[in-house]
Amino acid sequence: MNILKFDSESAWVDCVASLWRDRLRQNPRLRICLPSGHTPIKIFEAMARSVANGWVSYREAEIFALDDYGGLVPDDLGRCRNMLRRYLIDQSDLPKERFHWIDTAAPDLDRVCREYDVLIETGGGFDLTLLGIGLNGHLGLNEPGSVLDAPTRRVEMHESTVKASAGYLTHSNLPTWGIGVGLKHLLDSKEVWLLANGAKKAEIIQRTLKGAISNEVPASLMRRHSNASLFVDQDAGALL
Ligand code: PGA
Repeated sequence: MNILKFDSESAWVDCVASLWRDRLRQNPRLRICLPSGHTPIKIFEAMARSVANGWVSYREAEIFALDDYGGLVPDDLGRCRNMLRRYLIDQSDLPKERFHWIDTAAPDLDRVCREYDVLIETGGGFDLTLLGIGLNGHLGLNEPGSVLDAPTRRVEMHESTVKASAGYLTHSNLPTWGIGVGLKHLLDSKEVWLLANGAKKAEIIQRTLKGAISNEVPASLMRRHSNASLFVDQDAGALL
């Protein structure tokens, strides 16, 4: 895994955004899997500005939401779909039908999961996957203990993940489950960027890189990926 450590959060944002623009220029049809959460917000904003400035276009790209919570109303701002829309999709020129998201309110969730996997697979998987890292090392909704060939599926969230969701919501009706892309498609992605900023991520970043490679810390599995990079700012990388 490539490790890229930056002196400041703004340098971290600028580098990821610059590389992302490069990837889009090299392959305008880039298929990208994106997380929500606090980690990528400034990067998404930089990418939205890149479109406004005419530096890149998403017209031919495809974006897949990494996961979504269940049990929240469709327009809840804390849902992955809505965070991606707010910070990136709605500010970009991505055609509506090229934004794929997980409908956790559908009556047949098994079908939603199967169809999402087919959609990912028929296009040849992801070219680029961006991932935040949970305090317990989770990747999206791949909680500790997730199997390596996990498909898109319904997941009961671990307690720390339920607690963390409060940070994205404006109410106290915390989700306890969600649907997320499984480790299989994340590990199969042609390129993976793990992103972490802020001091509270320092310990899990240390475990991710220096601890055992194990599905007990799903982020550590990316050390075996042939084209994965970890981008940390000074605070998140403080224990490396
Ligand atoms: P965060 O969440 O980006 O809000 O820190 C990351 C995660 O839990 O996957």
